[in-house]
This record gives sequence, structure tokens and C-alpha cells, in this order.
Amino acid sequence: MDWGRFSRLWAYPGRNISARARWEYIGRSAVDASRMMDGSTGEDDLRRRGEFMADLLAGALEITPQTHVLEVGCGVGRVGREMAPRCAAWTGADISRSLLRRARRRTAHLGNVTLTHLAGEGLAGLPDAAWDRLYCHKVMLHIDEPGIRVLLRDFRRVLRRDGLAYFDVWNLNHPDAQDLSRREAADPILSRQPHRSRFYARDSVDGWLHEAGLQPVWIADSSFLLQVIATRADADPEATNAARRRLKEQGAALIPRGHLDFVPPPA
Ligand SMILES: C[S@@+](CC[C@H](N)C(=O)[O-])C[C@H]1O[C@@H](n2cnc3c(N)ncnc32)[C@H](O)[C@@H]1O
Repeated sequence: MDWGRFSRLWAYPGRNISARARWEYIGRSAVDASRMMDGSTGEDDLRRRGEFMADLLAGALEITPQTHVLEVGCGVGRVGREMAPRCAAWTGADISRSLLRRARRRTAHLGNVTLTHLAGEGLAGLPDAAWDRLYCHKVMLHIDEPGIRVLLRDFRRVLRRDGLAYFDVWNLNHPDAQDLSRREAADPILSRQPHRSRFYARDSVDGWLHEAGLQPVWIADSSFLLQVIATRADADPEATNAARRRLKEQGAALIPRGHLDFVPPPA
């Protein structure tokens, strides 16, 4: 992560504009848009890193050609462009119209893609019980607790009964995330903004899931990310236990190994 560029883009322009307006601004430049997805340096990098992440998520969530998948906070479709060919239908939802326009161009060759602008609170406008799988990767890193609670309540609403949802937040208890927290705190502008990074612990996650009508299937907190796979509280117990057993074995592949980053194979 290029800290100088990140903090310039994220903290400017304007001191008090909303996160929504900021993502709108970031989407106006191709370079900024790809950098702010995951540090990608351009289209080739977006594809390489997107493919790597799609592989990890498709494996952990058992995504097949029959699966209907929703990505919350899809940005330019970095992961979605590579995920769509693996599933029956892929929907990308985001608060930024400029990023969605980029996603539309990047996925124009795919026949099973829907892109949706989230104009209201949480996932307002998306239908109930429509998706088997949902993932929300690198989105809640800047969202405060009330915002996360709203999103999780809607994850429960849009998931089918035995559906699985993946999300991640900064892990309050990991030294790499603590280091990031100190750097942001030392930035006089970023540290006061409502969309500054937020850091959470396992206890918070358990409370949010319970309140949203979700239950944990798999939680990993050994990296800078606290990673969660959850299902509805009313999911079939047998299906839930089978997913728990599988992820106990296979979940480790989804845990990032780099410093504040996933480490895809070299280009
Ligand atoms: C760091 S980017 C990650 C994009 C994508 N998930 C990826 O991994 O390439 C964060 C994305 O989340 C979107 N976002 C931020 N807050 C959101 C919210 N409350 N609901 C949906 N999307 C949101 C931003 O517009 C941006 O596209």
C-alpha cells in the first residue's frame, strides 16, 4: 500500500464530504479506481489479483455453475469479472456510480452479470432471499458499527435459507492492523474523518451476527483481517454443520499471508 497516495485520495478533496462522494470521486480516474480497490496498478494487475481472490472465495464458499452470487461493494468488478464465469449469475452492488460504470465496461463480454447502484441505506432495493452466496471483501474496513449492522441485517434478508455470506473487517488485535491504525491516527485530516479505518474484535462480530439473525460458520482472526463466513440463524442445521466441517479443513486457504495484503502469484 502506497500510504501517501492512499491518504491523499482518501482524505481529499474536501474535508467533510461523505464516503459515498469520495468513492464517486475515486471512480472518475482509472488509475485511482484500480489503486483504491486493492492497490492494483492497472488492468493487468486488477485481473491477476481479481482472479486470485475469486479463486479463494469460490473455493471457500463452494461456488459452482449453479450458484447465484452477490458481491456487495464490487467497485470496478475486480473480483466479479473473474467470479462471474464460475457461477450461474453474478450481481455486483455498489454505492458509487462511477465505479459501477467501470465495472460495466469491464464485464461487458459476460452474459450473466447484473450491476446495481445502492442509493439508499444498506442493500435497500435488492430483493429478499435471492442469493446463495454473498461476499463483501475490503468494504467494511471504513464502515462504522451502525453501518455494519445495517449491512448485516440486509445480508440476512437477501440470502437464501442455506446461503453463505463472507465479509472482512480490520482485525483490532493484529499488529499489522494496529500499525495502520497508528499511521492513520497520526494523519491530522484522515484521523478526524467519518470514513477513517475502523478496527474490530471478535466479540463485536459475534454480537453483530446475533443481532442480524445470522450465525457464524467460520471465523479467522490470525491475520490483519477478521474474516467471517456466516449463514442465516434459521439455516438447516445439517447443512450448517457440513459447511463448518468443510471450512475447518479448507478455510485456511482464505487467510491472507502478506503484510496488509493477499499475495497473489507473481505475474
Ligand atoms: C476497497 S474497494 C473494494 C472493491 C472490491 N470489493 C474489491 O475487492 O476489489 C471498496 C468498495 O466498497 C464500496 N463501498 C463502500 N461503502 C459501501 C457500502 N456501504 N455499501 C456498498 N458498497 C460500499 C466502494 O464504493 C468501493 O467500491
